[in-house]
Amino acid sequence: MKKVELSPKISTFPMPTAVISVGIGEEANLITLAYVGKVCFNPPIIAVSIQPKRHSYQLIDKHGEFVINYPTIEQLKETDYCGTRSGRDINKWKDLNLTKEQATIVKVPMIKEFPWNMECKVIKKIELGSHVCFFGRVVATHSDPNYVKNEVLDPEKFNFPAYIAGNYLELKKGILEKHGFSEEITN
Ligand SMILES: Cc1cc2nc3c(=O)[nH]c(=O)nc-3n(C[C@H](O)[C@H](O)[C@H](O)COP(=O)(O)O)c2cc1C
Repeated sequence: MKKVELSPKISTFPMPTAVISVGIGEEANLITLAYVGKVCFNPPIIAVSIQPKRHSYQLIDKHGEFVINYPTIEQLKETDYCGTRSGRDINKWKDLNLTKEQATIVKVPMIKEFPWNMECKVIKKIELGSHVCFFGRVVATHSDPNYVKNEVLDPEKFNFPAYIAGNYLELKKGILEKHGFSEEITN
């Protein structure tokens, strides 16, 4: 196979898109992020990367807490809205009729209408360049029961949008194989 060499960009990785809540009380804001990823199983840690010029950056930095809210594909418009307007100018909660739901541990509100919410406390911050990476320890997770099987996210019901190179995608194919299935292959 002949391959083409490309510039070393990472924008082509498919990422699940999430709307992050930051800030407390009246200043609470929402920002859409694609730079979101799990980085440690135990303790559970998720990294989110934000450009310092974002209004949300100051809020996450100030309070050291955030909530990751995963939308369904039906909530794509809300997701795009939170990623194309600034909380400096508008109130995204009001504009989108989203409800602030009290979290269990952090003071930052969760989005009630979004089915999967993870409360996080910042344990580390690293300045990388265009983005600053915040490592958030997940201290509580909440889910619509329809999305849960055996205490974890049900992959067969998983229908969250992903983002790749400026496009929103549906991860529709479902389960291909189970972890470890290659062990059955013997030569
Ligand atoms: C799908 C999508 C993904 C995004 N991912 C990121 C990201 O990972 N990091 C970031 O700093 N900005 C990201 N943005 C841009 C911010 O969401 C956008 O600038 C937003 O309006 C900032 O809101 P704020 O000014 O209220 O903080 C993304 C935007 C979209 C639409």
